[in-house]
Amino acid sequence: MATRTNARQKAGEPALSGSSGSIVVLVIHGPNLNLLGEREPEVYGRTRLVDIDKELKKLGRELEMKVETFQSNSEGGIVDRIQKARGKCDVLLINPGAYTHTSVAIRDAIAAVNIPVIEVHLSNVYRREPFRHHSTIADIAHGRIMGFGAESYSLALRAARTIAEESRRRNG
Ligand code: DQA
Repeated sequence: MATRTNARQKAGEPALSGSSGSIVVLVIHGPNLNLLGEREPEVYGRTRLVDIDKELKKLGRELEMKVETFQSNSEGGIVDRIQKARGKCDVLLINPGAYTHTSVAIRDAIAAVNIPVIEVHLSNVYRREPFRHHSTIADIAHGRIMGFGAESYSLALRAARTIAEESRRRNG
């Protein structure tokens, strides 16, 4: 399927979000998710992060969206990446890992950039320890998808397409 390409991308510049360019989705993976495939496979499955990212980029092409991916083990690294996305991305998919349950800094960064967010988790956190039941971003997220293993991300990416289209229609 053909991918929409704007002049900036042809010129090798980063895609800008906006009604004329491709829909851009940024996927952020938090701490320890670089170990997916090896880390507690009975909880998180056997799919490696590199394969999740590859699959998301492929699905992005099918849905005619540009998918950028980023992983960091540090809270500051995640905050920096969210800030960098301001004005350059239509939807943010984020699995903040353990920072889901603790990070006010990531919540504040999301609130500051005004990008619709889908919170993603591989596991259903409500079937796990009580300390995982609280999320600092749940009430500012557009929606939350969890419990489907690696498929949580592809479900979220499909939802991102709808959110981006609606928001572009609304904003002209
Ligand atoms: C997780 C759930 C978190 O509680 C945990 O700390 C993770 C992964 C998930 O995807 O299921 O690192 O976000």
